[in-house]
Amino acid sequence: MAISLKVNGATRSVPAEPDTPLLYVLRNDLELNGAKFGCGMAQCGACTVLIDGKAVRSCVTDIGSLANAEITTLEGLGTIDRPHPLQRAFIEEQAAQCGYCINGMIMSAKALLDRIPKPTENDVRQALAANLCRCGTHNRIVRAVLRAANEMGRT
Ligand code: FES
Ligand code: FES
Repeated sequence: MAISLKVNGATRSVPAEPDTPLLYVLRNDLELNGAKFGCGMAQCGACTVLIDGKAVRSCVTDIGSLANAEITTLEGLGTIDRPHPLQRAFIEEQAAQCGYCINGMIMSAKALLDRIPKPTENDVRQALAANLCRCGTHNRIVRAVLRAANEMGRT
C-alpha cells in the first residue's frame, strides 16, 4: 500500500506497510541518508529526526503513526551551499571523527536550540546525553552546539 508522509516540507508517497520504521523509508525509498542505522532499538540516537519539532528515533517510529506529522531530516536543515548554523559549526569545530553519530547529535541539538536558544554547556550535555558517540568527540560536539547557539543569537 502507499502511505503519504510530509518530509522536509514536501508530501511524499511511499509504497510501504504502516508498520515500516520511518528510518527504512527515509533511507531506502526517499534517498534521505542523513539518518543512520546504528542499533535499531532506540538505544544510540544515530537515526534521530524531528517530528513536529521533537527529536525522535526514526528506527522505532512506524510510518503509520505519522499521517499528519511534519518530519524534518538533516537534509531539511540546510544545503551544502547554505548550511544551517549547526551544520557549519560542526564543520568549523571538526566535531566529526567517523561521523556516524553526527546526524543524531545535530538533530537533537536542533530540537534543543528551538526550545532553549541560549543553552548552558550543561543544557547541551543533558540534551545529547542519550546520543552515543563511539569515537569520543563529545567535547567538540558540545563546543559546536554552543558555537551555533552563539552565532544564531547574533543574527
Ligand atoms: S538506530 Fe535508532 S536509536 Fe540507534
Ligand atoms: S564521530 Fe564517530 S561515532 Fe561519533
